[in-house]
Amino acid sequence: MIVLGIETTCDETAAALVERSEDGRGKILSNVVLSQVNEHAAFGGVVPEIAARAHVEALDLIIARAMKDARLSFDALDAVAAAAGPGLIGGVIVGLTTAKAIALVKDKPLIAVNHLEAHALTARLTDATPFPYCLFLASGGHTQVLAVRGVGDYVRLGTTHDDAIGEAFDKTAKLLGLGYPGGPQVEREAAMGDATRFVLPRPMHGRKDADFSLSGLKTALRLEAERIAPLSDQDVADLCAAFQQAVVDVVLDRLRAGLRMFRERWGAPTALVAAGGVAANQAIRKTLHRLAFEIGTVLIAPPPELCTDNGAIIAWAGCERLALGMTDPLEVAPRARWPLDEVAAAEGARQRTAAYK
Ligand code: KG4
Ligand code: ZN
Repeated sequence: MIVLGIETTCDETAAALVERSEDGRGKILSNVVLSQVNEHAAFGGVVPEIAARAHVEALDLIIARAMKDARLSFDALDAVAAAAGPGLIGGVIVGLTTAKAIALVKDKPLIAVNHLEAHALTARLTDATPFPYCLFLASGGHTQVLAVRGVGDYVRLGTTHDDAIGEAFDKTAKLLGLGYPGGPQVEREAAMGDATRFVLPRPMHGRKDADFSLSGLKTALRLEAERIAPLSDQDVADLCAAFQQAVVDVVLDRLRAGLRMFRERWGAPTALVAAGGVAANQAIRKTLHRLAFEIGTVLIAPPPELCTDNGAIIAWAGCERLALGMTDPLEVAPRARWPLDEVAAAEGARQRTAAYK
């Protein structure tokens, strides 16, 4: 089967075509991503109104490009999938409405994909990872530890009480006068810094649950920066190194707790899977490797271009759902908020999911 996937929940306008073969293997036929980073850079973050307008302007062309790259016409599609949330509602409406129009005109099934579900299932597109696995999803908008038990069967083990990890990286970058998006900049500075010069907190350390909290760390960093201002280049590098090390320690501790919860309920996971832009951070990746080794499993970290937002992961989630007969009516509504554990699979599909590993 071939599915068109559309992604417009944040600041990437993206479309892709993905093919799923009978044996459940996935193949990306095209994957076109237009980043709006330049439009938002001056504001130090994503401006929802600018994002929605940019999606309207670009989406038709991006879809046409994805079809052309794959050398396919709409008639060749088995379904049209779009991220229907969670995300910035203006953008979500643009993507979902466009998908509905194509589905209606070409008489194809529509699949309203939860954006987080798409991140959760990416490891099956890249590595055919069997269920159940433990997912660490860390992006600009989300920080979650999830048990992925089947298509439409997700249990949230931990989440953040305040900022997402990527958001904390972005705010740190902004505070220190580095550019947007902040993650890669902070990582670059950290490589030149001394992580031991500042003592920063490790929020939630030692708690039994797998929840995160980043705002205290962010505040502690701001106070240190204010204390030693004006900042030299070395000060900035040292602050970045201390911040990144604190995040690494927090991730290690919180994921250890999450993996313990996972094992108590479902036994050993088939893998520890990383997703979201933050998984591109080398120090965090190294920690995840260590953790996977520690519990006798493997780390699956999709390549960075599939960790960040794109249409292929939406198309693949569409394939997985279509294979189980899970499609949506044209009236399906976009959702700004849509927790992953509310993505319920129909009961029949749930049973079929169990057999479909
Ligand atoms: O998944 P993503 O592309 O978009 C969503 O937020 O959905 O993630 C972007 C986030 C940004 O906050 C960015 O600063 C962060 O991921 N990020 C990083 C790195 N690369 C991107 N954070 C830390 N280190 C990085 N190398
Ligand atoms: Zn995302």
